[in-house]
Amino acid sequence: MTELKTPVIVVNFKTYGEVEGAKALEVARACQEVSEETGRSIVVCPPTVELSSVAANLKVPVFCQHVDAKNRGANTGWVTPQGVLSAGAVGTLLNHSEHRLMMYDLKASIEACKEAGLITIACADSPETAAIIASFKPDFIAIEPPELIGGNVSVTDARPEVISKGVEAVHAVSPEIPVLCGAGIKTGMDVKKAMELGAAGVLLASGVVKSKDVKATLKDLVSRI
Ligand code: G3P
Repeated sequence: MTELKTPVIVVNFKTYGEVEGAKALEVARACQEVSEETGRSIVVCPPTVELSSVAANLKVPVFCQHVDAKNRGANTGWVTPQGVLSAGAVGTLLNHSEHRLMMYDLKASIEACKEAGLITIACADSPETAAIIASFKPDFIAIEPPELIGGNVSVTDARPEVISKGVEAVHAVSPEIPVLCGAGIKTGMDVKKAMELGAAGVLLASGVVKSKDVKATLKDLVSRI
């Protein structure tokens, strides 16, 4: 399994129009260029339908946005860990606020991904949920207060205690799991504050995907770590 260097900036493309079709590759290429130019760790999570095109053309670590705990075989419309791996991805987000799982499904997905050799970033909406998820042993946990997702106020300003308490709660269960945070993060200053609060990186979307100058935004994001 590929190792992910921290601090890490994880860019979730979601299914924004700005990254539909070939545009996903352009944004991912900008992420790769900034990572190469600055030596910082950046991960891209393109829309699932663009996974193989991005992974085949670039070296930046590619993650899926969601994986189902399903095996190869007669399953229709599911995203299998083996399929994601074959598409060239090295990991996946799980349980994002916009793609919630029941806890037993999340546990099964984490186990299926581990077995396949995919890195897992499991999302949690609160420190309490993060503590439960920590017992499933994902590789990373990302804490995001849902009400701040897609907005203009960073979690680091609006709910800093969610990050520090989240880190504490996760590490009380599994000290080895790095904790990321997200929601409203847009600048290098936001990233710096996240790290001061104990995060090992950030998970963000609109700040990059909707930026008028993706490369400049990414350079700013990595500028203080
Ligand atoms: O997955 C990242 C996310 O939910 C945060 O979104 O747009 O607030 O950076 P955004």
